[in-house]
Amino acid sequence: MEKRRYIFNNSLYDNQKSNTEQVFDVAVIGGGMAGLFAALELDERYKVAVFVKGRLEDGSSFLAQGGMCCVLGADDSFEEHIADTLCAGASHCNEQAVRVMVKGGPESVRKLIDYGVHFDMDDDGKLKLTREGGHGKRRILHCGGDATGREITKALGNSVMARKNITVFWNHACVDILTDERGVCGAVINDGVSDFVVRCANIVVATGGAGQLYRYSTTPEGNTGEGIAACKRAGCELADMEFVQFHPTAFAIHAEGERVFLISEAVRGEGAILKNKNGESFMSFPGQHPQKDLAPRDIVTRAILAEMRRIGDDRVYLDTSVMTKEFFEKSFPTITAKCHENGIFPPNDLIPVHPTQHYLMGGVVTDLDAKTKVEGLFVCGEAACTGVHGANRLASNSTLECVVFAKRAAEYINRNPRKIPDKAELGEKTAYSITVEKSEIFADMQKIKAVMTEKVGAERKIENLLAAKNELSELYEKYCDVNFENRAGYALFSGINTALDIVNAALSRRESLGSHHITE
Ligand code: SIN
Repeated sequence: MEKRRYIFNNSLYDNQKSNTEQVFDVAVIGGGMAGLFAALELDERYKVAVFVKGRLEDGSSFLAQGGMCCVLGADDSFEEHIADTLCAGASHCNEQAVRVMVKGGPESVRKLIDYGVHFDMDDDGKLKLTREGGHGKRRILHCGGDATGREITKALGNSVMARKNITVFWNHACVDILTDERGVCGAVINDGVSDFVVRCANIVVATGGAGQLYRYSTTPEGNTGEGIAACKRAGCELADMEFVQFHPTAFAIHAEGERVFLISEAVRGEGAILKNKNGESFMSFPGQHPQKDLAPRDIVTRAILAEMRRIGDDRVYLDTSVMTKEFFEKSFPTITAKCHENGIFPPNDLIPVHPTQHYLMGGVVTDLDAKTKVEGLFVCGEAACTGVHGANRLASNSTLECVVFAKRAAEYINRNPRKIPDKAELGEKTAYSITVEKSEIFADMQKIKAVMTEKVGAERKIENLLAAKNELSELYEKYCDVNFENRAGYALFSGINTALDIVNAALSRRESLGSHHITE
């Protein structure tokens, strides 16, 4: 079946005149670190709209625990951070982009501090640095112990709301990106009830990844690849979609359908050890990676899966007894609270963990200024594929990537103003007539999650990938002619497309690389 160019509701064509069109210089889609930072770095002469799908606390950035990488220590260097990033990425990274990201760290951190972010400091007033998997040095800044995302997002959110040139639209989702022969001319936005048109010269998409296409993910609800799918429909290229990251240590206690709580890698960075139910430190067994518990994420994840199979358990355990109670509770207040809620009292008790979907390395292809091949369309953060993560992201490089490339996107827009188009083209009306009940949409979203979890996980078989492609293609055919009536429908169709992009990319790479691991 032919690809659909737009997914917005048919009635938009009829209602367009009665719905007041909104006009901005720049529309930023997403209220996480990348979107907010981009909005703040844009010239104040621009009229900017920030569309946030829910509230600030509903995005992935808000949940970031570990922190943000930045070379600041006297014993550290850009070259060492670059080497660790390339090594974790299985040498599949774009080295030029990695260099830009790493070297852009200190300035971005200074800007964050100017915007009111309070990174944790030691008693001498120096920024505290922790460590995570794959890092040879302590280079991870954090806030509120393990509440880095919450603190940064809140500070950026306050700065955005204080800006006169920026209007924030809460609970507004992007449905489609509109283009004409010159590039971006607008977007279709859903306000929770209906769709309306925003006419604008530039769009910055910072909508996050697609973790909610899996049954178990550390990412929030709504992370279904909608921004990625909208950019693809607008003519952007995608790359590296086969590389899905599974975090080794998500909390093993969770209800069905609930977002899985993360136990930050910084816990291992501060000395915690992975153990099996017999108390053996299996990352120290012969044949394991020389960095043991602090090996890159994909390696630790596969070692845990192998150990769970060998020993016949559905989890392993983090032994945090190397830390004092005071140190653990001060460093990891969010994790402490979650453990206590579940009757677990570290560092005396072991924390049960297992690997869970966490991040998408691939996304919309962008250059060093976060520009896509569509004029006026920029993508930053998890939705982008700058190439900095290669086949497996190094811990806490995601937050750094968000701010460095958001800033570069804003600087490019500041240097290269585009005229707001006179008209936002909706294209030709296609008579999509089929409607589908919400309950069916919900059931089909569960089908995608089942397919991706069972057939497109951290360990993959070609026959399973082929079966996944068939099942997802059937869903695509079913929905290709549907007139979507609500956000659940938009999310489902974007989810089907993004899941298919992941599976097709996985099928076209028949050998294992980084997080894409073929078992036969
Ligand atoms: C963590 O704190 O372990 C997650 C940080 C990241 O995703 O890089």
